[in-house]
Amino acid sequence: MTNGRALAKTYLEQQRLLGGDAVILPTSEPTPETPGLRPGSVNPKPEDLPPPGLSFDPPSGDLFAADPVQQTRTLADVATLVAQCTKCKLCEARTNTVPGEGPTDARLVVVGEGPGRTEDETGRPFVGKAGELLTKILGAIDFPREQVFICNVVKCRPPENRLPQYDEIAACVPYLYRQIDLLQPAVILAMGGTAAQTLLNTKQSLGALRNQVHRFRGIPVIVTYHPAALLRNPNWKRPTWDDVRIARRILDS
Ligand code: URA
Ligand code: SF4
Repeated sequence: MTNGRALAKTYLEQQRLLGGDAVILPTSEPTPETPGLRPGSVNPKPEDLPPPGLSFDPPSGDLFAADPVQQTRTLADVATLVAQCTKCKLCEARTNTVPGEGPTDARLVVVGEGPGRTEDETGRPFVGKAGELLTKILGAIDFPREQVFICNVVKCRPPENRLPQYDEIAACVPYLYRQIDLLQPAVILAMGGTAAQTLLNTKQSLGALRNQVHRFRGIPVIVTYHPAALLRNPNWKRPTWDDVRIARRILDS
C-alpha cells in the first residue's frame, strides 16, 4: 500500500471510530484523477472557525504573592504541591494525587473532570476506559497523546466518581490555572461540563457551550463531550469529532 493510501485508511478508520460513516476504499490503487482518496483531498476544506464565545480572565497571581501555587516555576513544582495538598476533603480517600502529565511545551492541553479509580490507583490521568478513548480521539486529529498535556479540574478522586463539589473545585482550581499559565498552550480542549464550566466560569450547559471559540486568559478553549459520556452515548461521537477538528484547525492556523 502506498504511504498516502495507508494514511487515508488510518484517517478513515479513526473517523469511523469517532462516529463517522464507514467508507470503503476500493481495492485498486487510486489514480491521481480519483477524487477523494488522496490524503490531501480526504481532509475537508478548512472551514471557518465557529464564532467567539465566552472569555474568562481570572487575574494571575503576582510574583510577590505569598501563595505557594503562584510561587511555582515549573509543572513539577505544581505536582509537588498537589502531592502534599489537603485543601479539600478529597484528600481523605485518595490513594494518589493525579496532577496531570505531558510535555512542558505541549501546544494542546486537555482538561477533564477528576481522577477515576484507575487514575487514583496509578497517579496518572485518563488511563482507564475513558482514557483509551481519549487516546483515540487525539490520534484522530494527529496528536499522539505523548504530545498533549492531560489533566483534570480536581486532582484527587471524588468518592464513587461523583461530580466534584463546588468547594472542592474552588480549592483545587488554582493548580489548574497555574499549569495553564506555565504551559501557555495554543488550545485548551475542555472535556465535559465540569471542565467547560470551570474554565469559562459559567453555568451554561455543555450543549450551549459547544461550537464556539471561547477564551481562557486569551487562550482558545474548545468545549466537547467527556470521553466517559461517549462510552455511554455513542451518538455523541460524531459531534465530538466535529469539535476536535475545530481544535485541530486552530492548532494549524
Ligand atoms: N475522567 C476524567 O475526567 N479524568 C480522568 O483522568 C479519568 C477519567
Ligand atoms: Fe488538594 Fe485538589 Fe486534592 Fe482537594 S482535590 S486535596 S484541593 S489537590
